[in-house]
Amino acid sequence: MTPIDLNELKISPAALIGKQWMLITAGTPENFNCMTASWGGLGFLWNRPVAFVFVRPNRHTCRFIEEQAAFTLSFMPEQYRQDLIFCGRNSGRDVDKMAHTALRPLTTPGGLPSFQDAELVLECRKMFRTTLQEADFLNWSEVSPAWYAEDNPLHYLYICEISSALKA
Ligand SMILES: Cc1cc2nc3c(=O)[nH]c(=O)nc-3n(C[C@H](O)[C@H](O)[C@H](O)COP(=O)(O)O)c2cc1C
Repeated sequence: MTPIDLNELKISPAALIGKQWMLITAGTPENFNCMTASWGGLGFLWNRPVAFVFVRPNRHTCRFIEEQAAFTLSFMPEQYRQDLIFCGRNSGRDVDKMAHTALRPLTTPGGLPSFQDAELVLECRKMFRTTLQEADFLNWSEVSPAWYAEDNPLHYLYICEISSALKA
């Protein structure tokens, strides 16, 4: 993978994250977990490029995110769609995602876990984490039934500096 200047990335963040989806991978190269995510964004904050993701605290991946200073966002080609579905429907608590998918681990130059064949990998250094609060929603009744009913906990929002971007 080759480091690229973020300013040269010609992408639509909404399509990249919302349609292609991404794997959030956290931990160490020896002990990591990944999950599929389609909520988040890319932008500019505190005078640096940032990525933000929304992760429910009960995700197994969340424990790995909490333990490390950084994690990766990996954008896989279409041939991995079924593997992304698998990683989005199963928990690393119950299954070995590497044994059940064609995903092959890769360690980034920053020493973070990611995957071979990724079209784009963003190394993300955590800067901010908060829990979404019901009282802060301006449209709670619209959002709550679909996303926060029953025992679905409110998401953590992580804002991260994109410390480097790597392209295939
Ligand atoms: C297409 C898709 C998008 C998803 N997006 C998110 C997301 O943005 N945030 C989140 O917390 N979970 C999201 N999920 C659910 C997690 O990927 C899922 O709960 C996964 O099994 C968690 O794995 P883990 O317990 O090994 O961390 C998504 C699932 C799918 C299939």
